[in-house]
Amino acid sequence: MIKVTIDGVEIMVEPGTTILNAARQAGGDIVPPAMCYYSKLKGSGGKCRTCLVKVSAGSEKDPRPMPKLVASCSTPVQDGMVVQNITSPEVLEARKGVVEFLLINHPLDCPVCDQAGECHLQDLGFQHGSAKTRYEEERRQFDKIDIGDKIQLHMTRCILCYRCVYTADQITNQRVHGVLKRGDASEISTYIENVIENDFSGNVIDVCPVGALTDKTFRFKSRVWFVKPMNAHRDCNKCSGKVAIWMHGEEVYRVTGRKDKYGEVEEFICNDCRFEKKQKSDWVIEGPREVERWSVIGQNKYAVGTKVTAPQNIGYGNIID
Ligand code: SF4
Ligand code: FES
Repeated sequence: MIKVTIDGVEIMVEPGTTILNAARQAGGDIVPPAMCYYSKLKGSGGKCRTCLVKVSAGSEKDPRPMPKLVASCSTPVQDGMVVQNITSPEVLEARKGVVEFLLINHPLDCPVCDQAGECHLQDLGFQHGSAKTRYEEERRQFDKIDIGDKIQLHMTRCILCYRCVYTADQITNQRVHGVLKRGDASEISTYIENVIENDFSGNVIDVCPVGALTDKTFRFKSRVWFVKPMNAHRDCNKCSGKVAIWMHGEEVYRVTGRKDKYGEVEEFICNDCRFEKKQKSDWVIEGPREVERWSVIGQNKYAVGTKVTAPQNIGYGNIID
């Protein structure tokens, strides 16, 4: 085991662990936000720069600081490394810049977006963003592409994190979509407009950190904070059948994977469970689901004992500055 210190907290980890995962082992405020890294997807990370941290000492053997901020999701720890996350004004300033970049083209359509309330960019903007924009140019526009009857693509909201591409590559057995073109013309698209039809394609909805990929069967039905998540399961011959069902009274409004406090699904689920089983009688309901993430969705404390820390704006990103 090797020792890394993040924001003054000493953590012992296996060699090869990234700074982000070392911070996750300790938990709390020292964990950098991550918009593209997803622990269940190989090769994810390194795209969004949200997780930048400062390495103020490289290792015990060579304690020189690293000259630039590094992406914590793809930088392995060294023995004796000292890292600063929210204790570094430089990191907070850089993160504020990253949020500004991510929001350059992202439309502010949260009032009509199904992802509102559980959107990582909303949370990031709240914690690290600024209430003002300096951007005066026109935002990107894309031709609308229909990717099937279950998944809605809003390309203008995409932050090009590549998670959905890795999901399609690694969880399904046929990927028909990817990132086409380059630079600010880059877009998620299906090759010659094939629809994404595969038993596990619905998982792209769960991994998308923003509202670029949403569930057409849930579209505009309710704000997520009005529906109540319950752990439920069924016998399924394609996946584990362990899901979260989102109830409105006696009705099942949507079905998703069960997400942990970092917003990552515990297990990927199949499209039958997600899109076809919308009757309460389809499921064995285990009980209310604890929502540990601090986000609007975590605010109603659905179960006794749920620990949800109120969201707060960190340092430099004061929303009224
Ligand atoms: S559609 Fe969503 S998951 Fe896919 S690259 Fe864009 S933001 Fe990421
Ligand atoms: S989470 Fe590390 S670069 Fe995106």
